[in-house]
Amino acid sequence: VTDERIARIASSIRVIPDFPKPGIMFQDITTLLLDPKAFKDTIDLFVERYRDQNINVIAGIEARGFIFGPPIALAIGAKFVPMRKPKKLPGEVISEEYSLEYGTDKIEMHVGAVRTGERAVIVDDLIATGGTLNAAIRLLERVGVTVVECACVIELAELKGREKLGDKSLFVLVSET
Ligand code: PRP
Repeated sequence: VTDERIARIASSIRVIPDFPKPGIMFQDITTLLLDPKAFKDTIDLFVERYRDQNINVIAGIEARGFIFGPPIALAIGAKFVPMRKPKKLPGEVISEEYSLEYGTDKIEMHVGAVRTGERAVIVDDLIATGGTLNAAIRLLERVGVTVVECACVIELAELKGREKLGDKSLFVLVSET
């Protein structure tokens, strides 16, 4: 049953207070990865949602989108496209900036990794303010890709990141309040 799977996933996530800074309650998914059933249930829930939807692209956000994205891509027969922090990808890139509390950051994707008309799901472990996912959506839409949905294991609901995605659909397994 889905509810039992969600409960197991939620309880496998460890919360570490004051990491990486005082006041931050860090949602640590490494403990989810230590529980093979919770990890498999996580992947299965996404696969059940995205199979038979003509998804060509799973775009994974560095770093933990690189853990959850590839098994989903393999299971549904889509390609996996890494969206990386600046200066990590070796080929020609396109990039999108987004604002942080102080300053800005950027994500990059290889030119030629995706094609106009392809259908993508963006995968990450967590949505906080939504800035990262918003930049990833803009990056894919700039090259004519349809972003069908963003998919995260965890949503920090109080930060209202969902609102930053506009009318774009967000699917999460665990919503923390
Ligand atoms: C975390 C998380 C998301 C992002 C969400 O990554 O894994 O990628 O923050 O935040 P937002 O919704 O406010 O944009 P982090 O900044 O810890 O980087 P890392 O994955 O490289 O550790």
